[in-house]
Amino acid sequence: MRKIIIAGNWKMNKGLSETIEFVNTVVSAMKDIKLNRTQAIIAPAYPFLHEALRKSVGSGLQIAAQDVSLNNDGAYTGEVSASMLASLGIKYGIIGHSERRQYHGETDATVKARMLKLFEQKITPIVCIGETLAQRDANLTTDIIISQLNGCLSEIKLQAGTEIIIAYEPVWAIGTGRTATPQQAQEVHALIRKWLVDNYAPEVAENMAILYGGSVKPDNLKELLACQDIDGGLIGGASLKAEDFLAMVKTGAEN
Ligand code: 13P
Repeated sequence: MRKIIIAGNWKMNKGLSETIEFVNTVVSAMKDIKLNRTQAIIAPAYPFLHEALRKSVGSGLQIAAQDVSLNNDGAYTGEVSASMLASLGIKYGIIGHSERRQYHGETDATVKARMLKLFEQKITPIVCIGETLAQRDANLTTDIIISQLNGCLSEIKLQAGTEIIIAYEPVWAIGTGRTATPQQAQEVHALIRKWLVDNYAPEVAENMAILYGGSVKPDNLKELLACQDIDGGLIGGASLKAEDFLAMVKTGAEN
């Protein structure tokens, strides 16, 4: 059985005290949740990763970074390397988010390069892909998803102990309140799973978690998780309130 992953991408939200308050609340409440195969993750901003890790140590809550540098170390002002994240104890890193693609020139090639940096440090990449509204309206969703999968993952070898999580985030559903219908999401998730069968192996495809992201909230998570190929959510806005995040972790655990 695949894991169910409830991952909060906080983007550029919450300072130190809010991060601590959230983590303390969630860690304490999660003691009463039987997680079963559910993994809860939050991705705070870089400056607060350390404190979030310290406050969540030994709990069911994992901490992710929102990005990682293409470089190992040196004169790269403002960048944070995979080895720096590993030195903190970070186990997950989001890469290729559409906001990084849109505002920071991220491409499939740079996503792939960042993935290799994360692998070197045994950090699991959460690789984001997804089409824009114009691409969907032009019936290009399948082509875009396949091209992003080829661009990000082809020639990437999965060795023993390495894991990849894929997040399908249709750009038109991010922060818009307009969630993909479960059918729309499932269709793309099935396409991704099929690509994994064809390009890796059936066992790899069977075990890889594919998350949906785009206006996920406590109200719509259950019907998304009911779809065969949807293994969790990458959640922005609704992950910022501890009670909503906990409600979604509970939904995952009950699935
Ligand atoms: P929202 O849940 O706010 O739509 O954001 C989704 C997202 O971009 C998660 O990475």
